[in-house]
Amino acid sequence: MRLLDCHNFHDFRRLAKRRLPRPIFDYIDGAADDEVTHHRNTQSFERCDLVPNVLRGVENVDLSVTVLGQKLAMPVYCSPTALQRLFHHDGEIAVAAAAAKYGTMFGVSSLGTASIEQVRRQFAGPQVYQFYFHKDRGLNRAMMQRAKSAGVDVMMLTVDSITGGNRERDLRTGFSIPFKLNLGGVMQFAIKPMWAIHYLRHERFRLPQLDEHVDMSGGTMSIGRYFTEMLDPSMTWADVAEMVREWDGHFCLKGVMSVADAKRAVEIGCTGIVVSNHGGRQLDGSRASFDQLAEIVDAVGDRIDVIMDGGVQRGTHVLKALSVGARAVGIGRFYLYPLAAAGREGVERALGLLRMEIERAMKLMGCTSIDQLSRANLRFR
Ligand code: FNR
Ligand code: LAC
Repeated sequence: MRLLDCHNFHDFRRLAKRRLPRPIFDYIDGAADDEVTHHRNTQSFERCDLVPNVLRGVENVDLSVTVLGQKLAMPVYCSPTALQRLFHHDGEIAVAAAAAKYGTMFGVSSLGTASIEQVRRQFAGPQVYQFYFHKDRGLNRAMMQRAKSAGVDVMMLTVDSITGGNRERDLRTGFSIPFKLNLGGVMQFAIKPMWAIHYLRHERFRLPQLDEHVDMSGGTMSIGRYFTEMLDPSMTWADVAEMVREWDGHFCLKGVMSVADAKRAVEIGCTGIVVSNHGGRQLDGSRASFDQLAEIVDAVGDRIDVIMDGGVQRGTHVLKALSVGARAVGIGRFYLYPLAAAGREGVERALGLLRMEIERAMKLMGCTSIDQLSRANLRFR
C-alpha cells in the first residue's frame, strides 16, 4: 500500500498502522476508557442529512472563512497535537508546511517537538499556540511572553485536560516520553525497524516549548503524569480572565462543552471557543462535539467565534458543522495518520482530498460560499 492508494481517512489510518510501532499508533488512535465518545464524535454526523438545492450556478466556489481574525483559504485547520516528531521525523514542520500550502491555520502544542519560533520563521501563515496551564505561574507567564515575541497569532488554552484521561492502550504499552516501554512495547518497536532508523537519524527528540522549564533527563514522563503533576487543577475562570487580559489578542478556549461555560468565555473576553472533547481522549462518556454544537452556537454564536473539532473524516462532516453554525472545523487524527504514513506529502494529500471533498459537496449542495450554508440545508433524523 502506497500514499497514492490513500483516498480517505481509513486508508491513511491503515498505512500509518503499518508504518508505526504499535505503542505510537495506539497513542494516536486511542482514547479514554471505552473510547465511546471518540467513536460517537464521528457517528454523530450521521444523525443529520444534507438537503441540497440545485440549478444555482456553482462553477466558482469560495471556501475561505475568517476565524479568530485569521483569513483561511479553507474552513478546516490543523488542531494542535503533541509529540509529532514521534509520528514522522519531520514532525510539526511537515504539518506546518502542508497547512501553509493550503492557506490554513496550524496549531503548535505546548508538547510540540518543534519550537514556535522555528515554525514562525519558516511559515507566514496563521499560527496558533496551544497552551497548557501549569502549576508554575512563572512558567505560564514566560510561555505567554515567549509566544508574543515569537509572533503567534492566536492563543488557544486547552481547558479539558485538568487531569489526564484514562488511556488504557497507553497503560498496556507503557507509552511515555521519551521512551520507556514494557517488554511487549519493546517488541513492537523491534518489528518496525524503518521507523527506528528514521527516528535515530534525524534531529534529537525535544520539547522546545517546555525544556527550559521541565527536566526530562531524570527519566521519562507519561502524558498522564505530565497532566497530573505539571498542570494546575486549581485553575479557575479568574485565572483565565487574567491571561486573556495579559495576552491582549485573539484568545480561544479549547474544550468548552456547556452553554454556561460558553457564556463565561464571552464574559471574560475570549474571542473564540472550540467545542471539543479532545478527540474522546479525556472524559469518556461526554457528549459528541457535533451533537453539542447547535445549542452553543444559539447561545453565543453572535458574540464569539464558535469552532468545533472531533471525529471529522469527510468533507460532508465539515459541511454539516458549518451549516449548524461553526466558523471553522479542527482536525486531529485526520492529518496525524497521513503525517505518520508519509510526512509532509501525506498531510498535503490529506488536506488536498479534504478540500476537494468540501468543494465538491458545496457544488452538489448548490452553495458557492461558506456563508450560504445554514440549517435550512439540514434535517435531523
Ligand atoms: C491531541 N489533541 C491535543 N489537544 C491539545 O489541546 N493539545 C495537545 O497537545 C493535543 N495532543 C493530541 C495528540 C494526539 C495524538 C491526538 C489524537 C489529539 C486533541 C486535538 O487537538 C483535537 O482536539 C482532536 O484530535 C480532535 O479530534 P479528532 O479530529 O482527532 O477526532
Ligand atoms: C493528548 C494530549 C497531549 O491528547 O493533549 O495526548
